[in-house]
Amino acid sequence: MSNLQSASAIPSATLREDYSPPDWLVPEIALDFSLDPARTLVRARMTVVRHEAHDEPLRLDGEGLKLLEVRRNGEKLDDGDWMLDDERLTIPLTGSEATVETLVEILPEKNSQLMGLYASGGILCTQCEAEGFRRITFFPDRPDVLTRYSVRMEADRKRFPVLLSNGDCVESGDGENGAHWARWEDPWPKPCYLFALVAGDLSANRDTFVTRSGKEVALAIWVREADLPKTSHAMQALKDSMAWDEHVYGREYDLSQFNIVAVSDFNFGAMENKSLNIFNSRYILADAETATDADFEAIAGVVAHEYFHNWSGNRVTCRDWFQLSLKEGFTVFRDQQFSADQGSAAVARIGDVRMLRAAQFPEDAGPLAHPVRPESYIEISNFYTATVYNKGAELIRMMHAMLGPHDFRKGADLYFERHDGTAATCEDFVTAMEDASGTDLGQFRLWYSQSGTPKVTAKLDYEAEDASAVLTLSQTVPATPGQPEKKPMAIPLKTALLGERSGRPIVAEHLVMLTDNEQEIVFEGLREPPVLSINRDFTAPVAMDSEKDPATLAFLSAHDDDPFARYEAMQQLMVETIIDAVSGRPVDHDPVIEAVRQTLTDPDLDKAFIAEAVLLPSESFVGDQMLIVEPEAIHRAREALRDDLGETLAEDWRAAYAASSGNAYTYNPAATGLRRLRAVALGYVAASGLDEAPQLATDQFESADNMTDRQAALAVLANSEWPERTGALEQFYDRYRNDALVLDKWFMAQALSTREDTLASVEALSRHPDFSIDNPNRLRSLVGAFGSNQRAFHAASGHGYRFLADFILKADAINPQTAARLLPPLGKWRRFDEERGAMMRAELERILAGPNLSKDVFEQASKSLG
Ligand code: PHE
Ligand code: ZN
Repeated sequence: MSNLQSASAIPSATLREDYSPPDWLVPEIALDFSLDPARTLVRARMTVVRHEAHDEPLRLDGEGLKLLEVRRNGEKLDDGDWMLDDERLTIPLTGSEATVETLVEILPEKNSQLMGLYASGGILCTQCEAEGFRRITFFPDRPDVLTRYSVRMEADRKRFPVLLSNGDCVESGDGENGAHWARWEDPWPKPCYLFALVAGDLSANRDTFVTRSGKEVALAIWVREADLPKTSHAMQALKDSMAWDEHVYGREYDLSQFNIVAVSDFNFGAMENKSLNIFNSRYILADAETATDADFEAIAGVVAHEYFHNWSGNRVTCRDWFQLSLKEGFTVFRDQQFSADQGSAAVARIGDVRMLRAAQFPEDAGPLAHPVRPESYIEISNFYTATVYNKGAELIRMMHAMLGPHDFRKGADLYFERHDGTAATCEDFVTAMEDASGTDLGQFRLWYSQSGTPKVTAKLDYEAEDASAVLTLSQTVPATPGQPEKKPMAIPLKTALLGERSGRPIVAEHLVMLTDNEQEIVFEGLREPPVLSINRDFTAPVAMDSEKDPATLAFLSAHDDDPFARYEAMQQLMVETIIDAVSGRPVDHDPVIEAVRQTLTDPDLDKAFIAEAVLLPSESFVGDQMLIVEPEAIHRAREALRDDLGETLAEDWRAAYAASSGNAYTYNPAATGLRRLRAVALGYVAASGLDEAPQLATDQFESADNMTDRQAALAVLANSEWPERTGALEQFYDRYRNDALVLDKWFMAQALSTREDTLASVEALSRHPDFSIDNPNRLRSLVGAFGSNQRAFHAASGHGYRFLADFILKADAINPQTAARLLPPLGKWRRFDEERGAMMRAELERILAGPNLSKDVFEQASKSLG
């Protein structure tokens, strides 16, 4: 008995292999909302059609709904005519078609999970992906049920003057007692996760876009009236995205309006609901005073991402949630291509790889590793991961590299043509690429099923006598949870050879396919000794070990004609130098200093590129390269290298700082490049120990005419021991205390500080009146950022672990999705010394023992211990 109980308390897993098509389809639904934050009534009338022969009843998912009425073919049913449990409503049906109607009550104001219909700052809005629609009404909540929606909503006109849903508004009018109503229809059948509704006191920034076939689309970005001036950048990004998708993929928009709404409480970045995108306000609102260049770039990227989903996600959707990367990997790849086209492609690529290495490589190397197409999940929300999104995008990019742009486009066209209006699989995408190009992607498919970051070694042996060289490549894919044994992958590597004397390419770039465990490639007719340049542009998401000595790395960092490879050589040189110091080997900073000097003073290089190239790898990234991470030693070694770089090149940093200063604010690639370099130079000036450093930072902080410069100065001050620090933080707080998105930056600057006392200051900030555990942005800006601060989080006392675990438990009772996303730093326990590892485990166990744990946190914590 007790056994049975505890067994049933463990949430069960859903398996990919268990997929079966739906028993009942729902071609049409009419929804009628009587909206009130305190108590909303939802009437749903749907036509259901038996799908193939079976005698299963109709099963509708539902969660947290108060069921008031059920009708079948117009006739009200008695309680005994249907069955209801925690998760579903079962209604027996005869015949091949029926009309089913339900009436439910929901409580938007009490919805702190931010899934389903909820209230954010007086606005009512919905979030349905992945399984939130079942928190609005009873429905087969799965992406392979495609339905035409007609939505009527009624609400108080004063509180909710604007009523929006998918498609077009076809009717509206007045109701009783100051109410008004509107009816919206979406002609495109869609899965319920793309349903959306918004009601609120909103103002629109309106514009239009004319598609290439001449159709006019009305565009609107809806925000609180005071925020209207901050919407122009997002609007421009939307129009650029619409034009780009026509131009690059031949994809045109398919409705007469496109609406975006910004809300301040949102679990993720944004959501691609059909023609009614709902955004976390941080990915819409921007002006020079309150948003950094990085914010502007992120906004353009997310606006593009959500817009691109209209084809890669909405017109062709996913058959089941195991196929999530079908829409997400492809759409991330598309938004990366778009961003690369807006400014420097090289800097964009460096950003993509930085992100992959910061979030996805650690995931792939830890207890939560899973394939791009997972095999099982307990809670699907836990699979909106860097693996599904960013590694998924790398898979699409590899196909792009193997097929070439022309055949890749043919493959994309074929994919859209074949699967338009349906729910498809990752396999369908790969097959379309294969069929359109005639390329065999058989072995390549392993990238979808095998998890773990492949490790590739590359060794070049030069034979001077016969002017030839042999490149020996080998690969291993590490064991990951549930996958002890791996097969060799098909790994595309853009490769070139540079002349050691001339510094110029002597074997031009070409694509090498590594498909075996080990492979040899011979190069002949070499005019001079060669230097290997491999995985250029980061063709494949692998960890590359090319056994290069510091001199060769320094050479490549100055001469490689592929900007990514150039950046990469410098990073590797820096990482190795830091690791030497941590491991107690003799340390020589000079190769790094010399390489940085060369890059910094190279007049031909793009400023944004220089800024990226001279930046030291993060402490976490250095830790990820070690078997056992030593956070304090890494911190000291990295700081020592930074100080040495600052001091030795003090004049060059001052010069770079001066040369990138004195410009009035504009937003364009050249100006953002200068600001980026200015920020990096300021950081090194601070490290130099120059007397003028505190004054320079304070001046920049106080006189900045934009948030990029101000925040950069604040970060330097927040990391410093200078007396000016406190005043700057106070000033920043006073100036922006009423702007939530900027206040997030204030919390984050302190949570990311490299100072010794960061843990204590973060604990104090968690009691600050402006801290709130309910708002996901605020929670992430303090607690999430802290979890990524390697030194502070891994403080030897273990108090960092306890702090994070406390917050995960507290947040879980409010918002399980967001709580679960804070957990991964604790899962790294195997990578730390015994004392730290034991304390981290103990916190995971304490979390698991928590009362009423959500499926979300249960899955992450139990797998992390596993
Ligand atoms: N589908 C959204 C995107 O990637 C992300 C998202 C998932 C948002 C789940 C909310 C909830 O654009
Ligand atoms: Zn997406």
